[in-house]
Amino acid sequence: MEEAEWGQVSHSLTAPRRAAAKLADFAARQGQTLLIGDDEGRPAQVLFGLGAGARLAHFRELGGRLAAGEYRLEGPLGVDPTAAAVAFASGAYRFDRYRKATPQAHLAPPEGADPGLIRAQVHALALARDMINTPANDMGPLQIETIAREIAEAHGAAFQVTTGEALLEAGYPAVHAVGRAAAAHRSPRMIEFAWGDTGPRLAIVGKGVAFDTGGLDIKPTAGMRLMKKDMGGAAHALALARMVMAAGLPVRLSVLVPAVENAISADAMRPGDVIASRKGLTIEVGNTDAEGRLILADALTRAAELEPDLTLDFATLTGAARVALGPDLPPFYTDDEALAGAITAAALAAQDPLWRMPLWPGYEAALASDIADITNEPDAWAQAGSVTAALFLKRFAPSGAWAHLDIFGWNPRGRPGWPKGAEAQGLLALFAMLKARYV
Ligand code: BES
Ligand code: MN
Ligand code: ZN
Repeated sequence: MEEAEWGQVSHSLTAPRRAAAKLADFAARQGQTLLIGDDEGRPAQVLFGLGAGARLAHFRELGGRLAAGEYRLEGPLGVDPTAAAVAFASGAYRFDRYRKATPQAHLAPPEGADPGLIRAQVHALALARDMINTPANDMGPLQIETIAREIAEAHGAAFQVTTGEALLEAGYPAVHAVGRAAAAHRSPRMIEFAWGDTGPRLAIVGKGVAFDTGGLDIKPTAGMRLMKKDMGGAAHALALARMVMAAGLPVRLSVLVPAVENAISADAMRPGDVIASRKGLTIEVGNTDAEGRLILADALTRAAELEPDLTLDFATLTGAARVALGPDLPPFYTDDEALAGAITAAALAAQDPLWRMPLWPGYEAALASDIADITNEPDAWAQAGSVTAALFLKRFAPSGAWAHLDIFGWNPRGRPGWPKGAEAQGLLALFAMLKARYV
């Protein structure tokens, strides 16, 4: 309850519990928690303060702070009960793949909540985080494909994948160029599935770089350390697709995930190479570490062929996005004013922050190559690395509504509710936006 509601709530408590709260100076201040035991000394009730106003972050923190057990929310929540339950579960998330599972706090669906919707969102968020947290030796292109296949099959979607040399004939030369240096069992692939047979077409695209060494323009030690998360865009795309299908949104969905490893070998693409793209534009590889935009170029061209009503892409595309806005606030880009407004409104409503940045046309000239149609390494004068990366994508994106999210996908520090490691960003916001657009 909020501070202002505490007086009233306290009168609904039994006298001993009210006395215990008084003794502990509980006043429903923000984040205040008080555990009250029963006569046998077992935990019976948790009082949780929402301070001046309820925010979903408070419920997320609560989920991260409570010990293992079964919980039920009671009293004034001040937020949508479905969203509160999703926030709680998201705060209780742990990554336990490689050690004995730490028991989690569980929450029964609160009154007025939609249990199916809670499940769909909680599972999707956990899926994205599990994929990102899983190291590259267990989350290569093949594992990304396997997870995509399972999600597609579970919802009756039509699944297809093009792997290795077949990418060249199928018209994905940039995906092939980026991924061809990887070991044979981690060969590059283009994953695609389609679901739904009526309604507007929605394309969801995600950067699936299982590991980004930087290629021959090798990353320094510190910069490479977290690059298992460079498939975060793919994880987000699959998670959003799963929510869309689980909720049965009335759309014809296409999911496009180029999955590669940016590895180093004798056959790696070289700085200065000129590669082909699905769109027919030639790309000079100024820097082999700007690989995400190369694979997304082909994937976005494919999306355009589907003539979608809307295209969304997620990518851990640039370090510059984090320099601009920090790890917690992903930038999004779109030239569609209505879409920009809808995303901003949904991000506010879902309390899942996103910040619009501009596809500033004045920096397009930084993408000029001396010998090819475009370079993947923007000229240094333009400086705004996240903006110029988005401008590169724009050259390949569908001409209709398109939004690009340059996500970080990671909590660099841990705190209750936000464990250090993988983070899902913008998923709840975009899901809310899609519901508002299509339902
Ligand atoms: N995956 C990285 C971007 C990245 C780095 C995201 C760190 C999150 C944290 C991407 O492939 C990359 O290396 N981008 C380069 C582009 C540059 C070479 C033009 C970058 O941002 O430095
Ligand atoms: Mn890179
Ligand atoms: Zn990358």
